[in-house]
Amino acid sequence: PEGVNFVPAFRLFVIRERNQFHVISATCTHLGCTTEWKAKEGEFQCPCHGSKFKADGQPFAGPAPRGLAWYPLSVSGDGFLVVDSGKSVPPTYRFAVA
Ligand code: FES
Repeated sequence: PEGVNFVPAFRLFVIRERNQFHVISATCTHLGCTTEWKAKEGEFQCPCHGSKFKADGQPFAGPAPRGLAWYPLSVSGDGFLVVDSGKSVPPTYRFAVA
């Protein structure tokens, strides 16, 4: 679906903007709790010690030392989005699907 989609099994957010996708890790960079997307505020929040991250994953409050990780995407032969969590990409990254 359009917007921010949490995928609990992989602790990721898949964000869709029309035909473009990007993926942000839900793992807080402080001590590893799972962050939550707060649509009303337009930010990610960590329930453990109060870190907050902008929609691009950059921290702006609390003890988190770094932004949330961004991962590159591809499409498998059978049409699934594939996330490579072994690599990171900058917050300008977008993956377009035709
Ligand atoms: Fe997220 Fe501490 S683990 S703020």
